Amino acid sequence: MSILVTGAAGYIGSVCSEVLISRGMSVIALDSLLEGHRGAVPPGATFCQVDLADRAQLEAVFTKHKVDAVMHFAAEALVAKSMREPSIFYATNVASGVNLLDAVTRHGVKKFIFSSTAATYGEPRIVPIPEDHPKAPINPYGKSKLTFEQILADYKLYTGLKYVTLRYFNAAGASNTCGENHRVETHLIPRVLEAAAGSLPHVDVFGTDYPTPDGTCVRDYIHVLDIADSHVRALEEIDRVTGEAFNVGNSCGFSILEVIDAAERITGRKIPRKLGPRRPGDPAVLVASKEKLKRVLGWEASHSSLEEIIQSAWTWKQKHPNGYAQNASA
Ligand SMILES: NC(=O)c1ccc[n+]([C@@H]2O[C@H](COP(=O)([O-])OP(=O)(O)OC[C@H]3O[C@@H](n4cnc5c(N)ncnc54)[C@H](O)[C@@H]3O)[C@@H](O)[C@H]2O)c1
Repeated sequence: MSILVTGAAGYIGSVCSEVLISRGMSVIALDSLLEGHRGAVPPGATFCQVDLADRAQLEAVFTKHKVDAVMHFAAEALVAKSMREPSIFYATNVASGVNLLDAVTRHGVKKFIFSSTAATYGEPRIVPIPEDHPKAPINPYGKSKLTFEQILADYKLYTGLKYVTLRYFNAAGASNTCGENHRVETHLIPRVLEAAAGSLPHVDVFGTDYPTPDGTCVRDYIHVLDIADSHVRALEEIDRVTGEAFNVGNSCGFSILEVIDAAERITGRKIPRKLGPRRPGDPAVLVASKEKLKRVLGWEASHSSLEEIIQSAWTWKQKHPNGYAQNASA
């Protein structure tokens, strides 16, 4: 089976490509390299440097390569940037996504897995958050992803596309070869590990007066290898579950301070923290209900203890102290 992976040079797309190849699938790895790294694309994949905004380039990829299914990771994904520059988010996450759907339709590809996000829910009213929770995203990032979910429903209705939406919570961790190396890193675990390695002076903790046990925000961390595995499972069952959305989370929340403490134990290093005021738009608790994924697809995370997540990320960081930038091809 041949899978087109968009965003394959990015964090989750590269790990997913690696997992697909390890399970005998062919991967056409598409990325603009705007954010991702050439060195992150697994050697067994066929790489196409293409921007989804370019319909002609995209058409050429589908003409040249046999595509049985698409896994669509490519996106603008920084929440804070989305509040400064919303148009980039609607252009990339919506308009360029539609370019992809049109190519998919023209070439008769019927299977599509979409990377969505917990940000589609907005401020949670029920925790753990079930998939049928009201969708009230509070930033253009979440809105752009929700809009694309709605567009997918139309393509199913009018073109017969089969698709599954996977709404990840906090992706973290690394495989043996691929890890997290965003050019602007905003995610907690890599920042904590940068502080452990001494490349950041401290970790900022935004808000210590939330209604949580230690006053800091609680989040649900899911190992990137589990995210990749959930894609394989969704693809296997796509005929049965087309049109469904699933949370990909662990149903288990950890506070910011708990994550920093765990990282201190695992790295054996002191991690300075700077306590500060809340940031606007951060919900106190974001934890997924994993019940639907388990009930409908019989799937559950198996690598997502906080220890395994942080240990894998730390091991990768020690092997790649400068991320992918140290590779000539990156
Ligand atoms: N990282 C998380 O915790 C998390 C949580 C929820 C959802 N997601 C979603 O998962 C997906 C992957 O996230 P990630 O952390 O790996 O992000 P990432 O930024 O590392 O990867 C995205 C990749 O898409 C590429 N890209 C962006 N615009 C493109 C375009 N127009 N054409 C071609 N390629 C383009 C970038 O170069 C990058 O390599 C995104 O859709 C994101 O919204 C991520």
